[in-house]
Amino acid sequence: MPAEPSAPRPRTGVWLVGARGSVATTVIVGCAAVAAGLHPATGMVTETAPFADCGLPPLASLVLGGHDTVDCPLPKRAEALVAGGVLPHGLPSAVHGEVAAADREIRTGGPLPGDTRSDEELIESFAADIRDFVRRGGLARAVVVNVASTEPVAMASVATGSVATGSGSGLPASSLYAAAALRAGCPYVNFTPSTGLHHPLLRAAASASGLPYAGRDGKTGQTLLRSVLGPMFAQRALAVRAWSGTNLLGGGDGAALADPGAAAAKNAGKERVLTDTLGSAPEGEVHIDDVPALGDWKTAWDHIAFDGFLGSRMVLQTIWQGCDSALAAPLVLDLARLTARAHEAGLSGPLPELGFYFKDPDPGSPSALAEQYAALVGFAGRLRTAAR
Ligand SMILES: NC(=O)c1ccc[n+]([C@@H]2O[C@H](COP(=O)([O-])OP(=O)(O)OC[C@H]3O[C@@H](n4cnc5c(N)ncnc54)[C@H](O)[C@@H]3O)[C@@H](O)[C@H]2O)c1
Repeated sequence: MPAEPSAPRPRTGVWLVGARGSVATTVIVGCAAVAAGLHPATGMVTETAPFADCGLPPLASLVLGGHDTVDCPLPKRAEALVAGGVLPHGLPSAVHGEVAAADREIRTGGPLPGDTRSDEELIESFAADIRDFVRRGGLARAVVVNVASTEPVAMASVATGSVATGSGSGLPASSLYAAAALRAGCPYVNFTPSTGLHHPLLRAAASASGLPYAGRDGKTGQTLLRSVLGPMFAQRALAVRAWSGTNLLGGGDGAALADPGAAAAKNAGKERVLTDTLGSAPEGEVHIDDVPALGDWKTAWDHIAFDGFLGSRMVLQTIWQGCDSALAAPLVLDLARLTARAHEAGLSGPLPELGFYFKDPDPGSPSALAEQYAALVGFAGRLRTAAR
């Protein structure tokens, strides 16, 4: 579709890898709902005062599309999220036009079961789909955002660069998409703990690309809380003896994380924030249990044993009950807008200033949420004065 002549600025593409998943569907429905004024932008940090006049692409100017390996139509997926209590009744039909338009922009990804295509063929096919999306839409640019199922950590064990995907190819799927983003000239955001651009075979291409990128693994619940509470214990000079956590969740993410390999990838980020903010790793582990009946709703329980003055023993327990996709979707929209603007402003390489959003941020990002927020607001200031 050609750009509308009356549009104040060219439109921006958001290419979601895992476009038919819960998070992606909530992004697509939510973007349309907020742009149409049907709902307030609750949870979107980029809609708050420090981000005004930064030149971020307006929500109404975002065009959504992506890759998935399943073919369930988006309107049906959205209705399933209504049935699960994630989306309000009536909302998918109120924004049906936008949802159907995004559905038409979803291409079949890969590797599919029994896929015999080489890595090179897969990367080229994905990059061609993204280029085609940008060309047909007359888009100024497109940001590729990975919101596909978490890959098992075995695939993410990248020390040697020789990893198995089960499809006969060498790179994990998340890295094939990241390579395709680079090839199509698109900024890249990894909202999952999967390898993506962190693969050693992609390092040189990433730094030579001149593109901005950010990751990884969106920080939406338990780790968000840890990045606030960890610094609190450290600043109050209280001695944390043990920090244990349990997560109960269902949905596609719960099923994927039932695989111990995938859960290990997720838990590494949750534990890292404690080591970074407390100075050493306390006793205790994080467990993730798949409870299909909970659907997209997550309960995260943390039990923190700590010592006070004269060795007095105390415990803090927190229970977080959140709707995963509702927590994640506004962050995905924030990240897409900020990364698109960073690209427009000519920034390249990792964006540690976006560490506020991630469990496992790029090197150079602080670990405490307050410091991460300050860095993000500073970044907004940089964007405000950068070229448009
Ligand atoms: N609060 C949150 O929801 C949150 C926070 C941080 C990270 N994440 C991450 O976001 C991701 C998505 O979560 P979700 O709840 O939407 O999961 P989901 O299972 O509902 O969706 C994942 C989608 O990815 C697709 N997919 C799988 N392999 C693919 C491939 N090779 N190519 C293209 N698509 C593929 C699946 O078909 C599915 O539609 C997960 O990795 C999750 O860990 C979510």
